[in-house]
Amino acid sequence: MTKLTFPENFLWGGATAANQLEGGYNEGGKGLNLADVLPGGKIRLEVIAQTGFDFEIDKSKYVYPNHDGIDFYHRYKEDIALFAEMGFKAYRMSIAWSRIFPNGDELEPNEEGLAFYDKVFDELAKYGIEPVVTISHYETPLHLIKEYGGWRSRELVTFFERYATVLFKRYKDKVKYWLTFNEINGATHMPILGLGFSPENQETKLQDSFQGLHHQFVASSLAVKAGHEIIPDAQIGCMLIYAPVYAFDSNPENILHALKEEQVFNYLCGDVQVRGAYPTFAKRYFKENNINLKIEDGDLELLKQYPVDFISLSYYMSRTEKKVKTDEEKAQGNLIGGIKNPFLNASEWGWEIDPTGLRISLNNLYDRYQVPLFVVENGLGAYDKVEEDGSINDDYRIDYLREHIKAMGEAIEDGVELMGYTSWGCIDLVSASSGEMSKRYGYIYVDKHDDGSGTFDRSKKKSFYWYKDVIATNGANL
Ligand code: BG6
Repeated sequence: MTKLTFPENFLWGGATAANQLEGGYNEGGKGLNLADVLPGGKIRLEVIAQTGFDFEIDKSKYVYPNHDGIDFYHRYKEDIALFAEMGFKAYRMSIAWSRIFPNGDELEPNEEGLAFYDKVFDELAKYGIEPVVTISHYETPLHLIKEYGGWRSRELVTFFERYATVLFKRYKDKVKYWLTFNEINGATHMPILGLGFSPENQETKLQDSFQGLHHQFVASSLAVKAGHEIIPDAQIGCMLIYAPVYAFDSNPENILHALKEEQVFNYLCGDVQVRGAYPTFAKRYFKENNINLKIEDGDLELLKQYPVDFISLSYYMSRTEKKVKTDEEKAQGNLIGGIKNPFLNASEWGWEIDPTGLRISLNNLYDRYQVPLFVVENGLGAYDKVEEDGSINDDYRIDYLREHIKAMGEAIEDGVELMGYTSWGCIDLVSASSGEMSKRYGYIYVDKHDDGSGTFDRSKKKSFYWYKDVIATNGANL
């Protein structure tokens, strides 16, 4: 067996997003954002999928777990100390846009919001932890959704550019690694999360989603331009949700179908953001789906001139495709669809577990783009049991992570340039898709529950000690 070795400067760490852990939703001058109006519990997925969602808070009907998250807003020092104890080299986090621009369209930022992240970055610096900052992670300011229709509107490009520029100027000496839009290619599946709009109907969904994506591509290029001007050594990446698409069998019709899905879902965004141009296959896809993009003068040149420096990705599952599928064959719970893969087991939420798929993904991406890759999300959402003595024996999580880390090691042996690994939800937080607390990913347990009860106390799971050893030995002890 090949001995796996990780690069000396490999960025081991964990990942979170502001809206899922900060809480303090109306403190420090923060405005409301998308996550503040999404209800908790499994109902959230239905709400996200429905057309015509009204983005209003109705506390008589729903709970809103993102309002207090896990209270990182007040407990960040304790949490960062725990990350440091595990030996984190990097911490991926996002900035809540509406802490900086409460409505999103102001001309001047909110100083209290900026000061909060100064404190977080200073705390990380104390321990030598490198921040990796997502500028937009499913938390578009609510005002931009209600007044402008989210990313359907071109005006958001200007607001985003202003917001990103403020961040670069303020944190230029504190943050080197930046990501523009979280899981940008997921937008066509769940436009509410990525693009901040709820389609009126299925016919307009694709047109609006791709127009929204075009706006985000332009906004991302403008951010890359500004970022490099303000921070000469900045590394600015795109962020993809990557799930390799397998054909169900060797029927060429199924293979072609899988290839087409792979092109549109996995590569279209990367091609624009890394290669700087819409791919050739886009023309036919847009035509066949009645998608007519409004592209302004200068947009295509901008995309060409300011591609990203690296690709970051989330990896949770693969996807198996068949041209014609029955309802019984569909993979229940697999967020991005497909049919059940008979060779894979799934998590308790139906996400198919496929470590080899991560090796395949990294090979696919590196072969295609030849830029450094960074796995900034991966992990197992699971129910954890607190034993009477307070211990949490999450061996299932350790097994999952070990196999995925091994797959990354194999990909590095295959020749892939991998910058780091920040596993998702290094501390338990609110689930993005279901709004549950009980879907836990963390090395650190947080005593907060689906009904909102709990002390918010933190405790270390078995995986905490395991991951600490992985980092200390640079992956040699898997
Ligand atoms: C990714 C998102 O899709 O998956 C995260 O970027 C999210 O925000 C993570 O939390 C896990 O998904 P979930 O729905 O289990 O929280």
